[in-house]
Amino acid sequence: MTAGLALHGGAPLAPQPLGRRWPEWGEPERALLNEVLQSGKWWRGAYQAAEDSKVGQFEGAFARFQDARHAVAVTNGTTALECAYRAAGVEAGDEVIVPAVTFVATATAVLQVGAVPVFVDVDPRTYTVDSDAVGAAITDRTRCIAPVDYGGIPCDYDALIALGRRHDIPIVADCAHAHGTQWKGTGVGALTQLGTFSFQMGKALTTGEGGMVLTNDDTLAAKVYSYHHIGRIKDRPFYEHHVPASNLRMTEWQGAIGLAQLARLEEQTATREANSRYLAAGLEQLRGDGIGVAPIFRDERVTRWGFYMWHFKFLPEAWRGPSRDQFLKALRAEGITAGTGHTQPLYKNPLFQDAEHAFGRTGFPVRGQPYGKTMDYSRVVCPQTERIYATEAVHLSHPQFLGGRGDMDTILGAIEKIWRHRGEL
Ligand SMILES: Cc1ncc(COP(=O)(O)O)c(C=O)c1O
Repeated sequence: MTAGLALHGGAPLAPQPLGRRWPEWGEPERALLNEVLQSGKWWRGAYQAAEDSKVGQFEGAFARFQDARHAVAVTNGTTALECAYRAAGVEAGDEVIVPAVTFVATATAVLQVGAVPVFVDVDPRTYTVDSDAVGAAITDRTRCIAPVDYGGIPCDYDALIALGRRHDIPIVADCAHAHGTQWKGTGVGALTQLGTFSFQMGKALTTGEGGMVLTNDDTLAAKVYSYHHIGRIKDRPFYEHHVPASNLRMTEWQGAIGLAQLARLEEQTATREANSRYLAAGLEQLRGDGIGVAPIFRDERVTRWGFYMWHFKFLPEAWRGPSRDQFLKALRAEGITAGTGHTQPLYKNPLFQDAEHAFGRTGFPVRGQPYGKTMDYSRVVCPQTERIYATEAVHLSHPQFLGGRGDMDTILGAIEKIWRHRGEL
């Protein structure tokens, strides 16, 4: 073995995966699953009282954890968004403003309710939506603003909430990456009219598949409940349906897993947070030494950063030659689990570029009635988003932050090593 780059046959700095194995589970998960099994209550459908249902208990516990008054658990983060948009009053022909840096569901859930996503650029400091760009995109059709706490870092809620109030437009925050994240001491998802989460397998809190909608508003909570429960209304007869809606209920198995996983989240978030602060300080130091990396800007209003993907920046000007993608290859060869997050501006997906295929004969919802205009995504350009994905973004997966500081030193060491050998890339 040589001391050279692992990419070229040298010894990797992290021969074993860093952090802890994901997901973490043990006796509490087993015991709660067994309880569900033996109870014979495997679904939530007929059990409205929280104490009768693991899902109900999970809803209550997660709402408290994120500081919200109400929670409705659903099948996944995509359907959580659909329910939230519908509850926010989004209908066919409306526009919803979404960032170009996000997972596809933030936008496809808009299409699923018959409305039109309008893409806007992000703030290059944080990769979250640029509130000025949101302001500039508001039209008389805008029915909702859907910011994303990308990678778990909260968007500028002060600016967005002020904007929403000024224009009387509700905000659905997509908090799928941000379990445990707080803005000025309050959990995300509870700051805006509605907030949504995903509990898909890789997320920082997982039920395998699952999602949750949070709100502090009684009326919105009742709407979300109805939209996730085939149009039923609480305390009304079981076969009375009030709105057309799907069955998006979470199962009791997921509720049980969610309860057990949530009990772990406080410690996991604290560990990730402590490690990420240490890593950010280390990256700043590397930058001070002239090495071409930098942490994402952390606003002092971010009082807790729970995260799914932790981003830092590759600064191409400083590297003068090797590209971000070559750097990533070298970093992965050293044993660090790293990527670019999502790989391209969302509007570049075939779904948006090949409108004929995606929207079919009628063009609904982006062409014709009731929109009355045509949205042509092939003309959308968000320069920061394009640059970030093409040359700058590097993300590290969250389980790597569940170990000790030694793991953070290994990541910093790998970056330093690649820098020293950059001439060989
Ligand atoms: C930002 C964002 N929103 C929504 C979702 C959708 O969640 P799910 O996969 O649970 O449907 C995801 C999933 O990765 C996501 O990253």
